[in-house]
Amino acid sequence: MIRLTPASAHGLHGHVTVPGDKSISHRALMFGAIAKGQTVITNFLASDDVLHTMTVFRNLGVAIQQNENSVRIQGQGFDGLTPPKKPLDMGNSGTSTRLLMGLLSKQNFDMSIIGDESLSQRPMTRVMKPLTEMGAKIDLTANGTLPGVIQANATLRGITYDMPVASAQVKSAILLAGIQAEGETRVIEKIASRDHTERMLRQFGGQLESKNGVITLKKQQQLQGQHVDVPADISSAAFFLVAALITPNSELTINRVGINPTRDGILKILTRMGASIEVTPIDTQGEPLADLTVRTQTLHGIDITAADIPSAVDELPIIALAATQADGDTIISGAEELRVKETDRIATVISELSKLGANIEEKPDGMIIHGGQSLTADNDAVLLDSCGDHRIAMMNAIAALITTGDVILTGEDAMSVSYPGFLEDLSEVML
Ligand code: S3P
Repeated sequence: MIRLTPASAHGLHGHVTVPGDKSISHRALMFGAIAKGQTVITNFLASDDVLHTMTVFRNLGVAIQQNENSVRIQGQGFDGLTPPKKPLDMGNSGTSTRLLMGLLSKQNFDMSIIGDESLSQRPMTRVMKPLTEMGAKIDLTANGTLPGVIQANATLRGITYDMPVASAQVKSAILLAGIQAEGETRVIEKIASRDHTERMLRQFGGQLESKNGVITLKKQQQLQGQHVDVPADISSAAFFLVAALITPNSELTINRVGINPTRDGILKILTRMGASIEVTPIDTQGEPLADLTVRTQTLHGIDITAADIPSAVDELPIIALAATQADGDTIISGAEELRVKETDRIATVISELSKLGANIEEKPDGMIIHGGQSLTADNDAVLLDSCGDHRIAMMNAIAALITTGDVILTGEDAMSVSYPGFLEDLSEVML
């Protein structure tokens, strides 16, 4: 339990370097483990979620050296994994679970998969269904949740899969099975979800076609180890962007942030709300990067609809906080996926921000945020809860910057799922 600190009248100032991207760090470990030869990852995110992926591969016999944010993997190819000595523990990580169910579906030994309490309630049939159609043999509980088993010796064949929900995790699971399957695998997306798997497959020497929402690939030749330099995570940068916008007298620059167009929804949404974000592109060969500078600004309410959701799905809690400070109402629709994240993020955003006086109505697929509400903890100290969800924990810490009165946070440890050191980085810009 910690006491959260409000910002001073001077606001927030300076440069912030947020840690490496979570989605890209997971994928770099996965491709490095199944490629041949050495893969080096720099600016690797050593957070709880990603370290679970790393431990899974060590458990499968892959030699991985980690020195803070640098990782070296001696990849042995698709067939280089060895039977695990214990169950594969995915911790809190949906990305590890879903992507690895696809990637590991063609090994010649059984693997048990387990996760923590929150992960063990999240839906896994969304990946089991297409993978089973491809020939994978996966057992889950009767509710379609972990624990599960990936059975040995499946014969995989390509399928055409029209995605029922926009999900990069489901898409990636199919593609990672597809690169080992006989015949052609096609994934059809109505709205593009993050494309890090597709980009990284190409970087490791693989081939795929992506055109008009259809991704097509075949069984791949051996992939080759690479150097992956991970951009700073835009989902982590989002907390500082909103912090600077809503805290009076602030100006922050966030360095070298990944601005992949399938991830930059937060920039587009905040711009539509009236924010002026200076985007200074950085020349790179890999994922697009930019420095982002933002100052305190008056925002206005907007409609956020289904087409906006995939590229900003993890940022909706912090966008909701920004909306409490905007003029007018912000209506978020088509965001039912929030109900099956680390927590039901429609419910947890409302429960936490309401404790500070925010006025938010719940909808089945989103929320209506009535803006222009000062946040207060006037009488006794208010006790906020992360509810075990890293992004709710960080949203609460940003809310406390502009709250008058005492705010206490419980469950702050959850932040280390994606951003160990968040509170230290925040305190640096509060000096
Ligand atoms: C992720 C995809 C998203 C996102 C998650 C990371 C990924 O999940 O919420 O934090 O790395 O592929 P969905 O694919 O379930 O939308």
